[in-house]
Amino acid sequence: MSEILEARTPAYSRIELATVTSRAQANLLGNIHGGEVLKLADSAAGVVAQRHSDGPAVTAALDEMAFLEPVRVGDIVRTFAQVNWVGTSSMEIGVRIESQPWDATTEWLHVGSAYFVFVAIDGAGHARAVPRLQAGTPADERRMREAEIRRSHRLARRREIEAGRVTT
Ligand SMILES: CC(C)(COP(=O)(O)OP(=O)(O)OC[C@H]1O[C@@H](n2cnc3c(N)ncnc32)[C@H](O)[C@@H]1OP(=O)(O)O)[C@@H](O)C(=O)NCCC(=O)NCCS
Repeated sequence: MSEILEARTPAYSRIELATVTSRAQANLLGNIHGGEVLKLADSAAGVVAQRHSDGPAVTAALDEMAFLEPVRVGDIVRTFAQVNWVGTSSMEIGVRIESQPWDATTEWLHVGSAYFVFVAIDGAGHARAVPRLQAGTPADERRMREAEIRRSHRLARRREIEAGRVTT
């Protein structure tokens, strides 16, 4: 993984995806199942990871998924996804999810946010190097800083858990 790749900005791979929800996606309460919302977010993040890295990438971890408001059957759901941070082969993709009733032009409602870690893979399924990330705006810089904090917490948590297993 020593190849030097040209840096890309988040704008290079940022996307917006939209869909209309259906009854088939409802839970027993009649709202859209959380797993369906998660799937939309994962799909959007996967497209971004593929675009930034010019090839296949798999979901390695879901760092955080916040469900802020219920999504109703018939809502239009749109997802905004962009790369927040990259390591050697891993990328953190942030996703914002918004909804609006299909039959009313009300304000878009922020219904959820998620942070995925994707790892770019080669044909054999091994991690491969991805282009570096270059912030294009102050907001990109903030997202990079915040993603670094999440990554360091994630690694610290893993180290602490592994250390606990050695001693017990
Ligand atoms: C993701 C996967 C390729 C990582 O393979 P691996 O052999 O553990 O890779 P490495 O240990 O070399 O780590 C590669 C990178 O992944 C990151 N990574 C691996 N597991 C991770 C996890 N659970 N959380 C966050 N990052 C992770 C490492 O930090 C490293 O990042 P870096 O290269 O930017 O420093 C492998 O675990 C896998 O194939 N998992 C299944 C993926 C899948 O099926 N997803 C669902 C459908 S898409």
